[in-house]
Amino acid sequence: MLTLIINIRELLQIRDAKVLKVSGAEMAQLPSIKNAYLLIENDLIKDFGLMENCPKHDTAKVIDARGKTVLPAWCDSHTHIVYAGNRSQEFVDRINGLTYEQIAERGGGILNSAAKLQQTSEDELFMESKARLEEVMRLGTGAVEIKSGYGLTPANEIKMLRVIKRLKDNYPIAIKATFLGAHAYPTEFKNNHQGYIDQIINEMIPRIAQENLAQYIDAFCESGYFSTEETEQILQAGQKHGLIPKIHVNQFNVIGGVALGVQYNALSVDHLELVSDNDIEALKNSNTMPVALPSCSYFLSIPYTPARKMLQAGLPLALATDFNPGSTPSGNMNFVVATACIKMKMTPEEAINAATLNGAYAMGISKTHGSITVGKKANLIITQPIPSFYQLPYAFGSNLIDQIILNGKVFA
Ligand code: NIG
Ligand code: FE
Repeated sequence: MLTLIINIRELLQIRDAKVLKVSGAEMAQLPSIKNAYLLIENDLIKDFGLMENCPKHDTAKVIDARGKTVLPAWCDSHTHIVYAGNRSQEFVDRINGLTYEQIAERGGGILNSAAKLQQTSEDELFMESKARLEEVMRLGTGAVEIKSGYGLTPANEIKMLRVIKRLKDNYPIAIKATFLGAHAYPTEFKNNHQGYIDQIINEMIPRIAQENLAQYIDAFCESGYFSTEETEQILQAGQKHGLIPKIHVNQFNVIGGVALGVQYNALSVDHLELVSDNDIEALKNSNTMPVALPSCSYFLSIPYTPARKMLQAGLPLALATDFNPGSTPSGNMNFVVATACIKMKMTPEEAINAATLNGAYAMGISKTHGSITVGKKANLIITQPIPSFYQLPYAFGSNLIDQIILNGKVFA
């Protein structure tokens, strides 16, 4: 099946197949063609170019994109969208003066979500999660990583990962699964950390790897959660079973998680609300993608990732939502891109690079997603008529998406 998009005002993020991520000063460039066409065959980008060279295809379905911008769908490399219920009471508690850490210390936070999830059946969890997935797809997300981590027992972690697999089997969107058993210590292991780590290593990881339920392994490397030594044990065990690290680091404290991630060849290190000079040195010349989550900074009123300092040092940067019930109850990548521009002083070009190609890299799919490249998946955003792509972050509260194309088909 052929689909031909014609009269595209501007076709953004055109890349050679060899470019799998962009770093430092390169991120300021967002290659584009003005007055363009794009041809889709089945689920792939077949061809694109200047409108004046547009081939004739009598059988193609034609989409007229006059005045509109076309860009790759967002690649959201960090989410926790499989969860049960909500934590709106904790949101109000924070408004009234408690901190995120204080709420966690009194048994709220991740343990609150775990208690809810443990009481929710796999079918109910699937129904709740699919509504969130459909919402983010309508907001322009064409690839998403989803973590476990609200189960915290072997059966419940596996239940979460099975729901992720079911989403993957039922929706036209790339989904990668990450095992995050090391998200928090269950109450019964509060004073027996090694007991829970042993359960992760001896019971959870082997089963998950055997059933091929996750590609990546994560840990919340943070004071009061998993120390660098504890995280290292988890990464080593994951490595033995082929699970590649993607870890939570530097959200509230700098404890050495970045260097540890680089040492274990992590695909990404995520959060980075705080970044030290040592962290920057560790990331230089590594294959690890730093990932910023500005909606989390916004919602918790914590610092934003120092993007300028990192790009200045020549590092790449990706942007993701962190969609979860506690620190970021939003999966809107348009808001993430706008917030990165407004609060992190990234230019629109840099933010779009970070939310497409670098996001794809941070979830291990930049060979097939994240740019307008012949042979990549036809996962596209067609905007409403806009004067330039600057409108996307500038009009930060508007939904400027007209159509979403996923696997070559219009997603309704
Ligand atoms: O990425 N920081 C750790 N995990 C999640 C939030 C977990 C929660 O509060 O439910 C995050 O922000
Ligand atoms: Fe997270």
